[in-house]
Amino acid sequence: MIIKTQKVIATSEITDPLLFKQRRKIIKSLLAITGASIAPAWANDNKSAWLNLPESQFSEKLLTPTPAELIKNYTNYYEFAFNKEDSTELAQSLSIDPWSVEISGAVEKPGNYHLEDILRQQTMEERVYRFRCVEAWSMVVPWIGFSLGNLIKSVKPLSTARFVKFTTIEQSDVMRNQRSNAMLTWPYSEALRIDEAMHPLTILAVGMYGDVLPKQNGAPLRLIVPWKYGFKSIKAIVKIELLEKPPLTTWNQAAPSEYGFYANVNPDVPHPRWSQNSERQLGSRFFSPRRQTELFNGYGEQVAALYRDMDLRHFF
Ligand code: MTE
Repeated sequence: MIIKTQKVIATSEITDPLLFKQRRKIIKSLLAITGASIAPAWANDNKSAWLNLPESQFSEKLLTPTPAELIKNYTNYYEFAFNKEDSTELAQSLSIDPWSVEISGAVEKPGNYHLEDILRQQTMEERVYRFRCVEAWSMVVPWIGFSLGNLIKSVKPLSTARFVKFTTIEQSDVMRNQRSNAMLTWPYSEALRIDEAMHPLTILAVGMYGDVLPKQNGAPLRLIVPWKYGFKSIKAIVKIELLEKPPLTTWNQAAPSEYGFYANVNPDVPHPRWSQNSERQLGSRFFSPRRQTELFNGYGEQVAALYRDMDLRHFF
């Protein structure tokens, strides 16, 4: 399934500090070092060349990425707009350089970390994941990112850390919907259980399609949790908190009966407005058959054990 990790890119191999001045340069440099950007991973039929994760843990069903232009122009970014077209255009005004992430709570090494410093210590990988929105559409994206678990380990979590909360930046001068709490309460926040956050499939993405993340898709840093509905994958993260108790999260607070904390993709648990049984694949012609939605978005082999003791019918 569904994971193609193309290349492991050691950021530590880069020594020239000037390269870290801009994120675009960082990613470009990282990719240039491994030659990753020009020949896309998904064009490579030689699976063994880019699968570097243990096959027992990750099977290898091939995924064909959705055309990048579609993904860049069909975005959900409610701080900017409640429709997918305007949010793409308006997000271009977001200021993302410099960027830092405050890591706090139940950790031995809290701090306000520059993104460049975080990236320098992490190993970049390309992960091709299916991304499933609760609005019953899906796409396939080659993300570039690094393990959230490794970042958490680097700040030494305390044994009391049971949840991880993420918060999006507040820039109400350009994020115009942040000027009112009419639909959602800002800043946008999301959370995971600590074992979900530490799971090897969970990444923080800084790029896609061999380039930096477009602003509308969550630049400079967003969460990707491929077995959960897309609203969990919070964009433009400025804060990561390790907590003892489950925090309130944006959608769960807005409509708890529609947006559960877990939000694991589950074809058998309908949302009040959208059956989750099947999905429209972005990029497919409208008359092509819908795709049957898979439990955990097809990642059950890797993640089902996390929910062994839960009755999945009751946890939307
Ligand atoms: N993060 C923030 N900060 N604001 C948002 O409105 N929308 C979520 C999620 N992350 C959202 C967000 C929803 S509902 C989805 S489906 C995905 O982002 C969409 O990601 P995409 O626009 O890159 O496709």
